[in-house]
Amino acid sequence: MENIKTETDLAIDVLAGLSAPDKYLLSKYFYDDNGSKIFQDIMQMPEYYLTDCELEIFTHNKQEIYQEFTKGNNHFGLIELGAGDGVKTKVLLSHFLKQSCDFEYVPIDISEESVKNLVMELKKELPTLRIDSKVGDYFQMMEDINLYDSTRKILLFLGSNIGNYNRQETLLFLSHLKAVMKSGDLLFIGFDLKKDPDTILKAYNDPYGYTSAFNLNLLQRINRELDASFDLSAFKHQEHYDPKTGTARSELVSLKKQQVEINSLNLTASFEKGEPIFMELSQKYDETSISELAQKSGFQIVRNFFDQRLYYTNSLWKI
Ligand code: AVJ
Repeated sequence: MENIKTETDLAIDVLAGLSAPDKYLLSKYFYDDNGSKIFQDIMQMPEYYLTDCELEIFTHNKQEIYQEFTKGNNHFGLIELGAGDGVKTKVLLSHFLKQSCDFEYVPIDISEESVKNLVMELKKELPTLRIDSKVGDYFQMMEDINLYDSTRKILLFLGSNIGNYNRQETLLFLSHLKAVMKSGDLLFIGFDLKKDPDTILKAYNDPYGYTSAFNLNLLQRINRELDASFDLSAFKHQEHYDPKTGTARSELVSLKKQQVEINSLNLTASFEKGEPIFMELSQKYDETSISELAQKSGFQIVRNFFDQRLYYTNSLWKI
């Protein structure tokens, strides 16, 4: 069932993206099995500072985060949207368990595979942790939870995943979240911050070729799942960063004039030499743009936690 829906979604979105005047593909399709593996490689490289920063923030501030989360009420559901491999969250989970905190961890992800692996890992490493994992759409799952459970909720949206949304999508996402939250619930979001452009470009333009492979893998996926004829060697990954807007954009640029058949879609996509496919947005923020976002979507900032280099922040919001 899951797969049928994903396949039709992929087809619809690829058709829209490759027939648009400015071609694009959606980065949410990066994460098939191979893409998820490449993303693990990306997170391991020193150039991809985001993971290290969030881990540093959690490690240095776990007790303060615990106090902000509980404030005298240590009974809550900890709901993580897009849980991934949970390496960073584990720091918080194990600290909370040591405080004999009365909470249940609810990881939600659209990938059944990644939720299964996460739960297996956690059962081994934190055997006393109560876990109620869910596979599916964030908002559907949240609404389901609200139907049968009135426990106070703390929502986690980590890893700068919010950066993949454009401004409109971000505001929509946040106001949608607010609508499923109640007074006393909290939202904890990871934002990557604006910084020296070289540092940002190096994180997305790595010398090992992981980011390039991560992008090209989506063409490979389209070849496989939509019977297409992308020649991966005829496209080159290119990263752009605009320090004014904080927008990092990733593109695959056609190295020659070429035509690509996407047989399942009955589509021939024509590329000029140098023509880009826009692949991914990784938005960078500053304190001003974060508070503006909170205010526009109806939240109040409780507190921002920073790493020592001020590269990244985890921002705690209430409604
Ligand atoms: C997982 C969306 C936060 O945009 O930084 C890493 C994905 N793309 N390298 C990001 C990604 C290229 C990543 N997020």
